[in-house]
Parts: sequence; C-alpha cells; structure tokens
Amino acid sequence: MKKTTQHTYLALHDGTAFPAFGLGTWKPQGEDLYRAVRVALDAGYQHIDCAAIYGNEDVIGRALSDAFTAGDVGRDDVWITSKLWNTEHARAAVRPALEKTLAALHLDYLDLYLMHWPVAMRPGVLRPKSADDFVSLTDLPLEETWAAMAVLRDAGLTRQMGVSNFTAAKIRHLHATTDIMPAVNQVELHPYLAQDELLAACREMGVILTAYSPLGTPDSGELFRRDDPFKVLDDEVIAGIAAAHSVSPGQVLIAWAQQRGTAVIPKSTNEGRIRENVAAAAIELTDADMNAIAALDRRHRYIDGRFWCPEGSPYTLASLWDE
Ligand code: A2P
Repeated sequence: MKKTTQHTYLALHDGTAFPAFGLGTWKPQGEDLYRAVRVALDAGYQHIDCAAIYGNEDVIGRALSDAFTAGDVGRDDVWITSKLWNTEHARAAVRPALEKTLAALHLDYLDLYLMHWPVAMRPGVLRPKSADDFVSLTDLPLEETWAAMAVLRDAGLTRQMGVSNFTAAKIRHLHATTDIMPAVNQVELHPYLAQDELLAACREMGVILTAYSPLGTPDSGELFRRDDPFKVLDDEVIAGIAAAHSVSPGQVLIAWAQQRGTAVIPKSTNEGRIRENVAAAAIELTDADMNAIAALDRRHRYIDGRFWCPEGSPYTLASLWDE
C-alpha cells in the first residue's frame, strides 16, 4: 500500500475508521472507469463508492481483482461502498441484490451497503415513466427494507449499513422502528447546498455524512436535460480561495468538505485530476475561507429528485425532502 498520501478517517458510531475520501463512480464505464480505479488505487485512494444502478460494478470488480492480484492493495486496505436500488426494496429482493453486487465486484463482503433512495419502485423498472412504476412507502415501508439489510449485515455480507438521500426525519423514523441507526447518510453536498441543519442533526445522531456531487456534478446537465445556471466549480469566491492557496477550485471544494467533517467522493476519470483530488486533503483552509464559503449556500440541489415525482406518484418533492 502506498503511504505517500495524507489520509483522514472519520469514526463511525461503532468506532470503525471510515476513510473520508473516496472515488465516485457514477457515469464512467468501460476502460475509462477501469483505468480510473487502477490509477486511484495507485494514488493511494482507500475508498471506492459504487452502486448497482450505475451499471458498472463488473468493471470495478475487474479493476479491484487485478489490483489485488498485482499486489497494489489488499482487500483490507480499501473500503468498498455499494447501494441497493429502488426496485429491490422488498424483503425477499434485498439479499439477491447484494449477492449480485458482490459477484460483480468480485468481493465476499462490502464495507458499507446503503439504501440508495427512500423510494421504492416496482421490480424490473429501469427508469420510472409513470406513477404506476412506484410503490408507496405505506405498501413497502423503508423499515422493512432496512430490517432486511440488517440480516445481511449479521450474515457478514456487509460490515456497515447506511442510507443515501435521507432526511434527518427519515433516519429518526428508521431508528425508531428498527432500533438500528445508519452509520452513514450519503447526500448531495457542496457549498451551494451546505445542508448545515442535516449535518448538525446527523452529528447529534452519530451518523456520518458523505458528500456526493461535491464538485456540483458538472457532467450531469445533459443527463437531466437542463443547463443549470449555478456552477459551484466556477464560483468566483472559490476561485479566489484557490488562487490564494495555489490549488484548483476542485481541490478547495474537496478540502472544504473534509474540513467540515464529512466524507467526500469526487469522481474523475482523468489521471491528473484523480491525483489532484486526493492531494486536497493536505490543504488547510483558514477560518476566513470557511466563512466565505459558508456564505455561498443557496440551498440549490443539482439532483433534486423530481424524477421520482411524476404526476400521481406517491412521492412528491415535499415528501422526499420533508420540506
Ligand atoms: P473528469 O472525469 O474529466 O475529471 P462530481 O464528483 O461533483 O459529480 O463531479 C464530477 C465531474 O467533475 C466530472 O465531470 C469530472 O471530470 C470533473 N472533475 C473531477 N475532478 C475535478 C477537478 N479537480 N476539477 C475540475 N473538474 C473535476
């Protein structure tokens, strides 16, 4: 294992050391992704964030097993997270879903398994098109899925369990109904969506936040067919801070996430940026920097979940975000 990279760990509620920096893998596929994972492991990344719905776990699995065989890293040196998709929330579907993920990743166990969204969909639906594609939380409660995930943790198929895109109220509900607190909540987090209240509430509950889309997901516009006018990577305040520290704006965003005590999983398939991003852990932002960045919050979601809320859907933006 390369020791040249500075690492930060966050303590999960049972004391487990959670590597606070990882590689995101949403969207890249094929050889680009294979090379990105190999480069990241070579650069000292200790955490790869995956999901069944990304449709690329087999590529990551090939990169991991080649890296293990080559002796670049050992299984215990790398933290692997994956996520249960919305179509697999039924009790009987959870185990086959995790087994499929493990087979694709060539692993015996995950370090962390997350419920990807607090949204249930009918089996077989790839992208929901109408209200009929959804199952309401009354018919398939989140706690049922959560309890099924706990069985898999007890069976050793995942070491930790967590959630993604959950509000504090939904986490409280899971805990109240199952007595099991998620270790991690993975949510969209960047200076335009600082989520101070969620961070404080999760801290109080002992839940670590992982920041996804920490660079403002600049490559998602086409996917969502909208040109978002708010580009956090191009923000002038971020640019000024980057210039003052002689680093890139992306590195400032990553350092900000880490300095707030959240984990962060920027994605890149570019070797230079893969190396640049992990080096951001060494940047020390000043209090003035942190305050200037705090003032940028505009509660702006790039991934606002509206794709779960077609007309007639049991899910609305208000019910999704408890707002
Ligand atoms: P690339 O793969 O060419 O590096 P997010 O993690 O918020 O979803 O952002 C991912 C996007 O940001 C990708 O398009 C990625 O492109 C780009 N990216 C990754 N790291 C950096 C960086 N340090 N500076 C600028 N853009 C970056």
